[in-house]
Amino acid sequence: MPSRSNRPLEHDFVADHLRPRYHVFAERGWLNDPNGLIKLDGRYHLFFQHNPDEALWGNIHWGHVSGSDLVHWTHEPIALFPESSGPDAGGCWSGSAILGPEGPLVFYTGRDGDRESICIARGDSDLRGFRKDLANPVLRPPATQAVSDFRDPRVWRDGDGWRMIVGAGLEDGRGSILQYHSSDLYRWEAMGPIIEGEYAGTAEAWECPDLFAVDGRHSLIYSVTPGEASTRYATGGWDGHTFEVELDGYLDLGPYYYAAQTLADDGGRRLVWGWLREGRTVKAQQTAGWSGALSLPRVLSVDPFGRLLSHPVPELDGLRGLGHRLANVGLSAGETCRLEPDVGHAWEGRVRFSAEIGGCLRLVLCASDDGREQTVVDFDVEARRVTLDRTISSLSGESDRDRRTFELGEHPGAGRTSAADIEEIHVFVDGSIVELFIDGSSITTRVYPNDPESTGVYLQATNGNVMVHSVEYWSLART
Ligand code: FRU
Repeated sequence: MPSRSNRPLEHDFVADHLRPRYHVFAERGWLNDPNGLIKLDGRYHLFFQHNPDEALWGNIHWGHVSGSDLVHWTHEPIALFPESSGPDAGGCWSGSAILGPEGPLVFYTGRDGDRESICIARGDSDLRGFRKDLANPVLRPPATQAVSDFRDPRVWRDGDGWRMIVGAGLEDGRGSILQYHSSDLYRWEAMGPIIEGEYAGTAEAWECPDLFAVDGRHSLIYSVTPGEASTRYATGGWDGHTFEVELDGYLDLGPYYYAAQTLADDGGRRLVWGWLREGRTVKAQQTAGWSGALSLPRVLSVDPFGRLLSHPVPELDGLRGLGHRLANVGLSAGETCRLEPDVGHAWEGRVRFSAEIGGCLRLVLCASDDGREQTVVDFDVEARRVTLDRTISSLSGESDRDRRTFELGEHPGAGRTSAADIEEIHVFVDGSIVELFIDGSSITTRVYPNDPESTGVYLQATNGNVMVHSVEYWSLART
């Protein structure tokens, strides 16, 4: 991405095989939540939580990239800086953007000590400059309720007025999402919680809420820590006051996707980005000089069961460079096929296959020739279960190692009836990022092979025969 800062980069990012190439990342330092997603005059603007000084959370600014095709992004000047005399002295935390009657506005969380409040900044027409409002903060936590956390405003137009939802934590340890109404964007009237946290057994603050309709159904997303960080969703009924949960789940099954925010695109599409957290030590992140990336843009849909599904946006095809295709490869149980030539550190693959009842397709990624480093994904079609094994993803000893199983849930179509059913795995690898898509479920993970040559990709049949109808894979680059 072209640089918009004159400060030279302190690290040799080009030689860093673990740094993403085609995902959105900060030019330097730290990135967390996507913020203020907005499309203005045909251009997408993505803001994000950012520490420009080091690859460590703290001193949070709003970073900014923009682009018109969801694939190529330009780094823009930093949008919001904390100010020592302001309600954001401790950081400009997460929030959202709208096009107001007088131009673009962002609503963000001002953090000062452990106080949180809602602040406004007014953007220039190209969003390259922001002025904080003298009225800040425009909203403080309710005095009448025992609220311990109050942040991440999400604002949208509602008839003649405006609505805002704010992520909250209650003193009794439950999460909550509070709602407000305004007719002028400055005076906000409390409408009570839209949902509170006995539901789903989650505790503490519910962060980064978002509420929207897709395929005629309402969906709520919010992010939850502690325990394992995750972006949760609920689909169900919304009467303008409370959210009635009919079904809930995880927006991404892996624990590396957090604080997602959506954007209403042209043609009724609902796009979503999440923060891809790191899976290696703080020391390793600081040595690298960068931390965090935004996920690929995904399109949301709701299936007949009410599940919120995500698929990578079709525009990503625009990243494809040299492509390769294999067709009709029959693998008997235990047999392996290496994809040759391999396509390096930034690539996309699509595998369409059928498995004998009981059979699994194994996908081995980021593998060294001697097999000492490798990441193994097993898709058990019958059980609709994916096992991700990262126990030997890296020889470095500084990254997460585990072997976990993820339940995909019932197939969105009819039940599986025969070995002829065609399954598809869609995978994106970018340095240390792996995003996997199967039937609208996504599993995002992070792997940090030590050896830059650990780029091998293999397909294997386990527990039964597998017919690989086609494998297509491409090296990806921003050209
Ligand atoms: C979520 C979050 C938000 C907060 C921001 C601070 O990751 O904790 O709730 O506004 O990060 O960086």
